[in-house]
Amino acid sequence: MTIRIIGSAVTPFGELWNKNLRELLSDAMLEAITNASLSPTDVEAIFVANKAAGNFENQHHLNALVSMMFPHYPPAMRVEAACASGSMAMIAAELALLSGRYKTVVVVGGEKMTDVSAQETTHILSGAADNATEIGSTFPALYALIAKSHMNTFGTTRDQVSAVAVKNHKHAMKNANAQFHKEITIEQVNQSQLIADPLRLLDCSPVSDGAAAVVLSTRFVKGSTKLLGFGHAQDSINLSDRSSLTTFRATEGAMQQALAQTGLTRQQLQAAEVHDCFTIAEILAIEDLGFFPKGEGGRATIENKTTVGGQIVINPSGGLKACGHPVGATGVKQIAFLNSYIQRGDAKAALAHNVGGSGATAVVHILQK
Ligand code: COA
Repeated sequence: MTIRIIGSAVTPFGELWNKNLRELLSDAMLEAITNASLSPTDVEAIFVANKAAGNFENQHHLNALVSMMFPHYPPAMRVEAACASGSMAMIAAELALLSGRYKTVVVVGGEKMTDVSAQETTHILSGAADNATEIGSTFPALYALIAKSHMNTFGTTRDQVSAVAVKNHKHAMKNANAQFHKEITIEQVNQSQLIADPLRLLDCSPVSDGAAAVVLSTRFVKGSTKLLGFGHAQDSINLSDRSSLTTFRATEGAMQQALAQTGLTRQQLQAAEVHDCFTIAEILAIEDLGFFPKGEGGRATIENKTTVGGQIVINPSGGLKACGHPVGATGVKQIAFLNSYIQRGDAKAALAHNVGGSGATAVVHILQK
């Protein structure tokens, strides 16, 4: 049975004063359904990804909220896996399709993060870390430990880390939905405000509002993108139980599963949307996915091997860094963006890599024309 992406949509990402979460989810779903040339009543079930609407705006029970946006109140379920909520909702939808229960479903992910203070946002996001052993730590602080460790172990330099942000801001210039349309330099990253040493403001993904949706179907639709397969692996939620701070074993495991399921090789992939919540996370990702040897991700980046026109295009959307990171939307946005990318002929096969927390959850999807 083949699962196809027959429609997709991404709302603008950014600080969207004029849209609340339900409007963002509705906008994304309606556009994706229209893009699939379907009507809302063709949707048999909905899978909604969201990390923390209960904290951000005291709105739980999102499955009921999205179902009532349709005249026939289709069955809906909400999935949460921190920043990997989107790709986890994708997996729930794919398993439901593969079971034969449904033929056409919608996956929608969204988050509205900018209506509370930066302090509250940081506190809410930190709920994805281990509430026992990591209490009090923030995500910039946890990824700073990873960055320090990578620098100490492999000699990764400040400039190499900054090159990730420079490249992703450059890629975002061509993405109309991206939060930032501003090119930056290595010097600007190096001199931006220190957040958690060694990570600076321009090493961080921003706080964002936004939503994305895809329509998945097991019906044949000529020319549509195939979801060839996925991998999903876990590691300890806390960093202190890991044997290494410089490798995300969950990413390695998810990649092995996805390649085995699809039968593709890394060389057959022309583009990848990877989880760059912080610049160092992209360096780990391109190493742990096996695109570059361990310890050489920084060098590959500064040598433009991951820029459009390089060995493999990493984060053509601008990634989380420059496109934005409304956490519940991100995993769905990666798939929706790659669908458009493949449909307009920029790649034949591509990969999406979505991480929850500081590497505890990893999901890899592989898409092909
Ligand atoms: N990248 C680039 N520019 C950014 C930015 C980012 N990540 N975050 C904020 N800015 C810009 C703003 O647009 C603003 O620019 P302006 O003055 O030209 O309007 C300026 O920096 C100050 O913005 P502000 O909202 O006051 O920043 P802040 O200090 O409240 O937040 C961070 C900055 C880094 C703390 C915040 O973006 C953050 O927490 N990021 C990480 C989010 C996260 O942890 N996600 C989960 C990952 S697992």
